[in-house]
Amino acid sequence: MNRQVKNGILYFDGCNTLELAEKYGTPLYVISENAVVKKCKEIKDTFLQKYERTRAAYAAKAFLTTTMCNIIEREGLCIDVVSGGELYTAIKANFPPEKIEFNGNNKSLVELEMAIDYNIGRIIVDGLDELKLIESVCKEKNKKVNILYRITPGVKSDSHDYIVTGKKDSKFGIPLDDEIIFPAIEQAIKSKYVNFMGFHFHVGSQLQDNASHLKALETSLKLIKETIEKYDYITPEINIGGGFGIRYTESDEKRSYSYFLDPMMKRIDEFSKEAGITRPEVVIEPGRSIVGEAGITLYTVGTIKEIKGIRKYVSIDGGMTDNVRPALYQAKYEGIVANKAEEPKTDTVTICGKCCESGDILIKDAKVAPLQRGDIFAIFSTGAYGYSMASNYNKNPLPAVVLVKDGESKIIVKRQSYEDMIKNEL
Ligand code: LLP
Repeated sequence: MNRQVKNGILYFDGCNTLELAEKYGTPLYVISENAVVKKCKEIKDTFLQKYERTRAAYAAKAFLTTTMCNIIEREGLCIDVVSGGELYTAIKANFPPEKIEFNGNNKSLVELEMAIDYNIGRIIVDGLDELKLIESVCKEKNKKVNILYRITPGVKSDSHDYIVTGKKDSKFGIPLDDEIIFPAIEQAIKSKYVNFMGFHFHVGSQLQDNASHLKALETSLKLIKETIEKYDYITPEINIGGGFGIRYTESDEKRSYSYFLDPMMKRIDEFSKEAGITRPEVVIEPGRSIVGEAGITLYTVGTIKEIKGIRKYVSIDGGMTDNVRPALYQAKYEGIVANKAEEPKTDTVTICGKCCESGDILIKDAKVAPLQRGDIFAIFSTGAYGYSMASNYNKNPLPAVVLVKDGESKIIVKRQSYEDMIKNEL
């Protein structure tokens, strides 16, 4: 996405990647503003404008900076946060509080107070215990908040075990046992301190097909129906989460938002007609699908080591500290030698990081143009869960983040210095 090759050099959103590496140093996260905007537009065209009473809340955990908040706001999306830190970032970026939705399985009292003080739009509540905390805060502050209940729909999704969240054995959501879910619903309906808006589910991430979304939807619709029957209460909203998969490699499916959303909207419409209710407002929470393919990471090649007959290791100046996904989820990536973008890919190498971990491998068996120390290697589709999951392991400073657009670049996060890394140490 937004990648071009000119005179053998990789360009990203009109910027020469070699010049970016030279100017800002490596490792370097590069985010294409046009690519992010294009994804937001896709969401508007195929969801927000196609269907009335819909919202899209960007899942900030995928990639969050104040600049990203500004882009998301400008594009008319809401934002979904999962911690005091993410909430703080959004507020500091002047993101309208009423367009902020707060998820998470263990929000602290302080985080809930912060959310309630800022009058944020929704709190997605993970259980009766959290509801009680919210009620006590609202009582004290004389406030009322909009809440949804996150349910555990009990569906299995086809993704890495660590990013599957909807199965029964999950730390997320409210288990659907009658003696747990119904008292929680009843309490939310009766409460003076909350407006009970409905149910939320998120089945998992990097999903390649819509099967688990559709199953979780059925479960939620059943619950909406039971809530009407038992309490004569119509929940005005349903949040169907995110998880829409992207293409990291050629073998990943190319799925559109319509692929996931159209069948769900059809089903919700049908259900509402049958139940004789107005269709609830439908909310989605896409993260990766907005920013994943909009980012690349640039590295400088260092040591090259050939183990005869076995493998050639090409070390780059970053690794699991700026992209933990291969080590954590065995995630696959593709990349290219940015300064040899048109040369034949005649070599097979393993691109490894510089951390003291054998698992610090970014790409196994990458087909590349022959590499040398000093070359610039670009890894694609690193926009989501790269920067946001980065660490200082081995006291490696966090890379800078640069935003590019139509050949212009600007730094949006400064590279961490050694001094930055020890400044909180006493
Ligand atoms: N909504 C909720 C409640 C979530 O828990 C998540 C992701 C999302 C939305 C956004 O999902 P997305 O559209 O980005 O797939 N670190 C992992 C991904 C963890 C996702 C956790 N929840 C990775 O790098 O693959």
